[in-house]
Amino acid sequence: MPASYTLQRFVAELRAVTAGGPQVSAILQQVKPLARRFAASRELRGRCNLQCDEQQGFGFQLLHEEPDHTLAVAVLSWLPGRGTPPHDHGTWGVVVGVLGDEVNAFWQRVDDGTRPRHAELRRLSEKTFAPGDAIAITPEIIHSVRNETDRISVSLHVYGKNINFTGRSQFDPERRTVTPWTVVQN
Ligand SMILES: [Fe+2]
Repeated sequence: MPASYTLQRFVAELRAVTAGGPQVSAILQQVKPLARRFAASRELRGRCNLQCDEQQGFGFQLLHEEPDHTLAVAVLSWLPGRGTPPHDHGTWGVVVGVLGDEVNAFWQRVDDGTRPRHAELRRLSEKTFAPGDAIAITPEIIHSVRNETDRISVSLHVYGKNINFTGRSQFDPERRTVTPWTVVQN
């Protein structure tokens, strides 16, 4: 019964899937259906607080992480017209739409990475994700997210490690810069 799927059971299944450290592609393949099931659960919907940080444009509500910050489960609530700069994650991730549409743009880094704080990006593609749609993110993927609707949109995010502890980066394609990026979490 998907509706009765609990956070406790979801986390237990995440632990089972990642035990022994299988390949990222195998983890993503197995986490995706679990995350979709949890995204559709009553427990997840009851836990969403929809709190957004005005300055960063979205709220990051951490529901779970292990003591070493692995297996992070979070609800992200996006203010209308707001989003993120292009960024990577430094870990694998699965994102599932919960409420409203979110536009994901995917980018490719085209410089050789040898100049400090310098990065050149090329925009590859864009796709709108609706509730129930899932995105599998490998550690190398660079994307940006935008809520183009007039209401708060919500998505469930599952990461191999809390993204504030992976040393990940954000990019400014116009200024051609790359800088460390952490987010405000609650
Ligand atoms: Fe992301």
